[in-house]
Amino acid sequence: MSETSEPVIEARGLHFRAGASHILRGIDLTVEHGEVVALLGANGSGKSTLVKSLVGINVLSEGTVRLLGRPLGPGRRGATVDWGRIGYVPQRAGAAGGIPSTAQEVVASGLLHGRRLRLPRGWRDRVGAALEQVGLADRVHDPVHLLSGGQQQRILIARALVREPDLLVLDEPVAGVDMASQEAFAATMARLVDGGLTVLVVLHELGELEPLVTRAVVLRHGKVVHDGAPPPARHDHDRAGHRHQHPHADDNALDSAESRALDLEVRP
Ligand SMILES: Nc1ncnc2c1ncn2[C@@H]1O[C@H](COP(=O)(O)OP(=O)(O)OP(=O)(O)O)[C@@H](O)[C@H]1O
Ligand SMILES: [Mg+2]
Repeated sequence: MSETSEPVIEARGLHFRAGASHILRGIDLTVEHGEVVALLGANGSGKSTLVKSLVGINVLSEGTVRLLGRPLGPGRRGATVDWGRIGYVPQRAGAAGGIPSTAQEVVASGLLHGRRLRLPRGWRDRVGAALEQVGLADRVHDPVHLLSGGQQQRILIARALVREPDLLVLDEPVAGVDMASQEAFAATMARLVDGGLTVLVVLHELGELEPLVTRAVVLRHGKVVHDGAPPPARHDHDRAGHRHQHPHADDNALDSAESRALDLEVRP
């Protein structure tokens, strides 16, 4: 729980450049306590770049970020972000990383951050509980490189959950995860959100998380083009793989999530 009334995420004027590419082009984003914000947009629109910038993996060219009331980067008197309260699930990273670690070891690594280099008391129980939340409690001693891609993704979710974070930032957490596990993930998220968790989640489809999502932010070419109500639920014919035709679909990379989101009135 955030004990301040400050937003959980407060990003102002974010720009990210890599060489000649100007990838984030002036993004403002505020996420309040208890919100579940879906970050949508076509492939290459800058979603991963934005979340990596928010969690300090990308070094911003311009702009400021505050997380849970603390500034990202070297703050005054060392008042930097409290990473122990923030969980992050990267996009399609795989949990194995070429090292034959067990599920328990990978999830336990989520308890280490910043200057915390020793596992806290009771870490085994916390790791077990996090694995339980993603339905992999029975794989605790298995080497993660022997788990399937979807199971490895669920290990990464457990690694973020084990911190019992106040803010979860997830980059396509259920891509490649089967429907039953997506439902279980949505149920876990619903319980955590009920307990006060704030979520920023990159998604291509709202899917099982739809009932939880309170707001959608849509990126296009590194800018926010919609910030407001989530796009309407998909119809069954969409699920069968039909592409929604949109009058503004002049961008050949426009995907269905952006297209449907843009059906909504774009807030001035
Ligand atoms: N460090 C970098 N150097 C050069 N280009 C980069 C860098 N990081 C991102 N990009 C480019 O920025 C654009 C946005 O990438 P990003 O990964 O943020 O897209 P995305 O919205 O997450 O897409 P997807 O839906 O495919 O995951 C892409 O064209 C990508 O190639
Ligand atoms: Mg991405």
